[in-house]
Amino acid sequence: HRDLLAIAQLERHEILFLLDEAEQWVELNRGAAKHSGLLAGLTVINAFFENSTRTLLSFEIAGKRLGADVVNMHAAQSSVKKGETLIDTAITLNAMQPDAIVIRHGSSGATALIADKVDCPVLNAGDGQHEHPTQALLDALALRHALRARGQAADDFTGLTVTICGDVLHSRVARSNVLCLQALGASVRVCAPPSLMPSHIEMMGAIPFTDFDSALDGVDVVMMLRLQNERMSGQFIPSAREYHHLYGLTRKRLARARPHALVMHPGPMNRGVEIDSEVADLLDRSIITRQVEMGVAIRMACLDVLTRRRRGVEGWTA
Ligand code: CP
Repeated sequence: HRDLLAIAQLERHEILFLLDEAEQWVELNRGAAKHSGLLAGLTVINAFFENSTRTLLSFEIAGKRLGADVVNMHAAQSSVKKGETLIDTAITLNAMQPDAIVIRHGSSGATALIADKVDCPVLNAGDGQHEHPTQALLDALALRHALRARGQAADDFTGLTVTICGDVLHSRVARSNVLCLQALGASVRVCAPPSLMPSHIEMMGAIPFTDFDSALDGVDVVMMLRLQNERMSGQFIPSAREYHHLYGLTRKRLARARPHALVMHPGPMNRGVEIDSEVADLLDRSIITRQVEMGVAIRMACLDVLTRRRRGVEGWTA
């Protein structure tokens, strides 16, 4: 079987294939009857070792809309609290014969470790500072839909410039998006305070900025990220007020970008810190709720494609 652990492991044509597959589910989800029996009889386990609203609920909804039996394991209520190791937890879940396991974990590489121990596809729902591949895919789908709604061709993002601003150092969303957006032809800038800029980001091909105003000049898309206070380990963190002054997306700042530049945020947002409410809620410019909508469709596509081989359908093809 094949896992979905990282955008870094996907070819451009595979990313486009998953986006195209998701389109049918966008249509289904917008209709009155949202059910498909495609995964009837299959069991999906969502094992979340870190908090989540969007990812957990959208994976649960995605599995249920496809007709699978979906069960959620919340680490806080599990035997992890009694000292069970990650590997023993994985072996335990595997013994229940799931057909897919979705994992969120605070440690980079934890999902790959579990994937090595189980017999079914594993989907990474965010592992530490490493990757959040379904987030980058849903962001790409949301961007594609927003551009198409404006009459722009958006099969890929050639010619587009995207600025990702925030706590890039700790952000799996930034990492997955840099790789995904570039694979689809976009030019990507990353902007962060010097203490929250990873040194290797240049190697991923993104252009680093520490001055937000310069990073915004003439861009088509601005993706804002929150400060991940739970992952700070001694870095200098500006106060919320100072951070907002230097890196907060305000209406005035957004004017530096192209006239109709789109605004994105993976959530959860800290309004008034990295983004002002009047920007987050800007009609026709902010696609934050569209991102959430696309999350369900992308996760339906990923669950479908990754379980095809088990269902006797031709596997991952493009
Ligand atoms: N964007 C995202 O991963 O949100 P949650 O942490 O709520 O799942």
